[in-house]
Amino acid sequence: MKTARVYRGTSHGKVILIGEHSVVYYQPAIAMPLGEARVNAQLIPREDTSVYVDCEYFCGELSQAPQSLHNIAVLIERLRCDCDIQSQGFNLRIDSTIPHERGMGSSAAVAVAVIRVIAQFAHRKLSQKEEFDYTQVAENIAHINASGMDSATVASDAAVWFKRGEGLETLTFETPGVLVVADTGVTGATRKAVADVRALYESADGDISFRTSERIERLGELTRECAQSLQESNVVALGNSMNEAHKILSALTVSSEELDNLITVACEAGALGAKLTGGGRGGCMIALAENTSSAHDIQVAVEKAGAVRTWRLPLISREVRND
Ligand code: MEV
Repeated sequence: MKTARVYRGTSHGKVILIGEHSVVYYQPAIAMPLGEARVNAQLIPREDTSVYVDCEYFCGELSQAPQSLHNIAVLIERLRCDCDIQSQGFNLRIDSTIPHERGMGSSAAVAVAVIRVIAQFAHRKLSQKEEFDYTQVAENIAHINASGMDSATVASDAAVWFKRGEGLETLTFETPGVLVVADTGVTGATRKAVADVRALYESADGDISFRTSERIERLGELTRECAQSLQESNVVALGNSMNEAHKILSALTVSSEELDNLITVACEAGALGAKLTGGGRGGCMIALAENTSSAHDIQVAVEKAGAVRTWRLPLISREVRND
């Protein structure tokens, strides 16, 4: 009996070092890949034309998928049409170790893995730009007004400097610092947080909107300062920029009690700086440790204070994806 070929597509999570929310307003942001949190998509061809999906939230025919998978369903149909493979059915299994709705780019990472596996099945080599555009098809359904930051960063194997409308540049640096990423265990609310910042930005009260636009610009400046600190391996300056960014994000109403608590605990345990990462209102925070031993102390402290999971991410970026 002939064994069916198995196709595979992978991607990973991301951590925004700085620039979340302000990136929506065309300010730059810096993000790093989190290789430990991954998505694996596996595709096995079927003999009929149907598409079956098997993932954490649903197992069955694509046409019956729940609303929460609408973005992926639209993406799959679009790819089948563009790649001219509508007459070729398949079983698609998606496994992810990226916690959902924690600001780690889970939805974009699932989209990238799906795009890669279907492109492979259809014998199509997609450019970075095409892959990005397809990811945005799914992301613009999952999050209204997505800046494209998540789509760009979950597909890159190096740290990136991202500016909406201009795309990304990869960054190369090697510092002694280590980021501790900690999950509050509380579901974030990116869509609502982005909408609330927009309401502040467009407020009828001129003072509120002026202060908001000043805050957004300052986040952009801090992102530039962080890029410089990374180049100079100045982890103390980097930590200060992270602390100021968190204060601004709090003023923009996107922090939460759980995030603030883990941030305080991390700083008391020796972090040089700490802030929320991603959309906020829950999800994850990041703390900058001077070295691995300090990162360990911070991890122990935040886990004791309620973090449900932590990761360690050295502040080193070398690999550049070639395609
Ligand atoms: C979410 O990971 C990042 C935000 O800036 C939203 C976006 O860029 O689309 C909050």
